Amino acid sequence: MTGDWAVYGRAIHAPDRVEDLRETLMIVGSDGVIASVETGVSPRDPRLAALRDGDALIEIAGDEVLIPGLVDLHVHAPQFPQLGMALDMPLQDWLQHYTFPLESRYADLGFAEAVYTDLVDTLLAHGTTTALYFATIHLPATQRLAEICLGKGQRAFVGRVGMDHPEQCPDFYRDVSAEVAIAETRALIAHIRALPGNDAALVRPIITPRFVPACTDALLDGLGALAAETGCAVQTHCSESDWEHAHVQDRCGCSDTVALDRAGLLRRGSVLAHANFISDADAGLIRERGAAVAHCPLSNIYFAGAVFPLRRMQALGLHIGLGSDIAGGPSASLFEAARQAVAVSRLLESGTDARKPPAERGQPGARIDAPTAFRLATAGGGEALDLPIGLFRPGYAFDALLLRANLPDGNLRVAANEAADRLMEKIVMTAGRGDIAHVWVGGRLVKSR
Ligand code: GUN
Ligand code: FE
Repeated sequence: MTGDWAVYGRAIHAPDRVEDLRETLMIVGSDGVIASVETGVSPRDPRLAALRDGDALIEIAGDEVLIPGLVDLHVHAPQFPQLGMALDMPLQDWLQHYTFPLESRYADLGFAEAVYTDLVDTLLAHGTTTALYFATIHLPATQRLAEICLGKGQRAFVGRVGMDHPEQCPDFYRDVSAEVAIAETRALIAHIRALPGNDAALVRPIITPRFVPACTDALLDGLGALAAETGCAVQTHCSESDWEHAHVQDRCGCSDTVALDRAGLLRRGSVLAHANFISDADAGLIRERGAAVAHCPLSNIYFAGAVFPLRRMQALGLHIGLGSDIAGGPSASLFEAARQAVAVSRLLESGTDARKPPAERGQPGARIDAPTAFRLATAGGGEALDLPIGLFRPGYAFDALLLRANLPDGNLRVAANEAADRLMEKIVMTAGRGDIAHVWVGGRLVKSR
């Protein structure tokens, strides 16, 4: 469709709590931005007939509902081929024996092209309209990932991984020097910003030191300076596992958060994956800098044996969204991450008898409900990135999923007119790829069943 167009019917979103947008007429501009949102519009409103006549109206049926697109704050694109593999190993062994050998293969541009094409297609089909990607140390393959996202219409932040520490990174997969890693990151930023067709910055570069253990101080400092110079967002891992957290304490004499801040890497728009073991002081620093946490409930189970204290960190004022952490998390679906966020929060809360281990349990009020998880997967991600996505509001990008209930290969079973909070609960608890009829990013239809 060219020019303004509209959708009409039922939408739900979670600005704070659940908002039920019934009989809603949403006008979308030719720039893909929502121009207006009006609820309670009669089906006999003459504007609908006019839009219909102009072939500029998408009508949401009784067994359908429109929701904001999903924002995945943490994806390792090159790890897609090992989804669900070797999660019985500790993080450091999984990295050395499986992940680094796999990531080293992206020197082969043909291999990268095949995997990245499959991944972006798959994530769009799962309703991920925005993704933050860690790629590898290879500049050509990372540039290719950005081009694939742009070509397929996925909103994305794409990062060339920096990792130059000779004691933590193997000879076959390591930056030759901090200088080269910084120069190639600079080249990636210029390449993505100049991509033809990327005038609206649908795809953006992101500065990506893998994690403190994998980077020398020179690399951390250099990438921090580059972030200040270019205004790029930053992504990294933070206080993920006991091993990793202790390693940074031993090397730097401080927490990951403080080490990242000293290097200038904690900024508005910085996304810290995991953050399982941050202290309240760390949280205060993250909030002060306007940085955010990518909560990755699935991989935290396998690699951290921990539950991120989400409620407590929300109360401390952090921006928080959700991450699949492909392939530390063995699912490409952010709906799956959302339901796991609900499930693990219940483990944190249950067991209120303080005499029974583990001591981390028994935190009254730790549980989150389904609308909170839905919010993390949508508006929370937008807030973390400081982008107008994840809500149906004027000025927000039209990034949306049309869910259709009762499909034979879908999971979502709903009756028309289901109360909005229960509908949202059903979506979080059951929805998946099979329930998604259409996916739009920035007003462009990018997937349809
Ligand atoms: N820490 C450093 N690299 C990685 C990675 O690839 N996955 C996870 N989960 N943690 C990491
Ligand atoms: Fe990760």
